[in-house]
Amino acid sequence: MKRIAIVGAQWGDEGKGKVVNYFSRDYQWVVRFSGGANAGHTIYFRDKKFVNHLVPSIAMDGDCKGFLSAGMVIDLEQLIVELRELEAHFPGISRRIYLDPEVFLVLPWHKQEDVILEDMRRTPIGTTRRGIGPAYTDKASRGGIKLYHLIDEDVLLDRLEELHHLKQQLYGGRMEQGPREVFDRLLKLKDELVSLDVHFTSAVEMAKTFREESVLFEGAQGVMLDLDFGTYPFVTSSPTMAHGVSTVGFSTFELDSVMGVLKAYTTRVGGGPFPTEDHGAEGALIRERGKEFGATTGRPRRCGWLDLPALRYVHYRSGLTSFIVTKADVLNGFEKVKVCVAYDVKGKRKELPATSRDFFGAEPVYVELPGWPDTNHDNFRKYLRFIHQQTGTPIDYISYGPRTEEMLETREWFAK
Ligand code: GDP
Ligand code: IMO
Ligand code: MG
Repeated sequence: MKRIAIVGAQWGDEGKGKVVNYFSRDYQWVVRFSGGANAGHTIYFRDKKFVNHLVPSIAMDGDCKGFLSAGMVIDLEQLIVELRELEAHFPGISRRIYLDPEVFLVLPWHKQEDVILEDMRRTPIGTTRRGIGPAYTDKASRGGIKLYHLIDEDVLLDRLEELHHLKQQLYGGRMEQGPREVFDRLLKLKDELVSLDVHFTSAVEMAKTFREESVLFEGAQGVMLDLDFGTYPFVTSSPTMAHGVSTVGFSTFELDSVMGVLKAYTTRVGGGPFPTEDHGAEGALIRERGKEFGATTGRPRRCGWLDLPALRYVHYRSGLTSFIVTKADVLNGFEKVKVCVAYDVKGKRKELPATSRDFFGAEPVYVELPGWPDTNHDNFRKYLRFIHQQTGTPIDYISYGPRTEEMLETREWFAK
């Protein structure tokens, strides 16, 4: 059975939602395996825009099903908003959504903590303020609430009271909602999910089905935001690479391929190093043409040029088997495009950053390549060949517009 993973190869927002939506027609399952509502995956389907934060990017009109794995942290409030929006256009779609009861929940306290901590930091991370870091922190420090706690009301109330007690001491009594209030709200949200007919089924119960049917694993964020290997501490709080498939009982050895989605240029939202950031007119032009504003927070994305040292690092760190290049159309009409081929790190040339530390203080060494009027032009093909040759990673598909169908396989196209 077909089984692939699609992950972000940069700092997120590479177009994963659109790409996953394109492939999802050929798969029976799309599984989100990490992160939470910090993600914003945009899909243009029949000229209507949808932004999925938690719901997997399944084909809306097919019978493909979506699974939210235990590697995620789920804000039930947000999930219901998204499902209701989708239901308005595709009645019954929620019945195609499955949740692992083992998953941890994002609580109102986590969102409040995210804001308090960001405001306290001398150098903010620039989080999405969706409560992600605090939810994963509570998971690791064993105070978290799992979805299955909602079926045992006594245990739920007890755990909420304990967590609230800890937080009130840590945050000097600043938590706005009491445990009873959160308890009542969570039970109401559970009832709403039940009335939407979503399924509560664990990865263990799904093991046989997932092995008999085709599965596409949808990554969130990007490798450079990975908790362990991204530009720490300017990262998210979860793994972003394909090994997240272990949250549904798979090994990466069981995947046919791991495709990394990358933009033809680079963007980043929030703080942290970004060696190829362009603070000038060209960066602003890319932002304007690429509509580079956050799908979750609306913040302007920082924009810059393609970064080959970062992509080499990502290739080796994450075991990608190929790339999918998106948004090349945004660079149409640029006379020249810059590509970073190496870093100057404190006077030393580095083509392959050895650790995430090398991204701090790295000065980009650029080459200029001729631009292209449109993505059918030979210069664009040369650009792709250059990326392949420089990173050792083949490019299997390109995306040339935001709509789901605007994708093309490169095999025949390269032969032209
Ligand atoms: P994700 O988080 O990786 O799913 O990406 P986002 O949805 O946050 O950001 C990608 C943006 O680029 C969205 O607005 C998409 O609609 C848009 N997009 C995706 N692929 C293409 C493409 O090939 N060309 C253009 N012009 N826009 C694209
Ligand atoms: P998708 O899946 C881009 C960034 C935030 C911030 C850092 C930490 O749409 O590609 P967090 O809220 O996770 O604690 O924020 O990570 N970030 C993303 N940037 N795309 C995303 O997701 C992101 N998810 C988190 O901007 O810099
Ligand atoms: Mg996004």
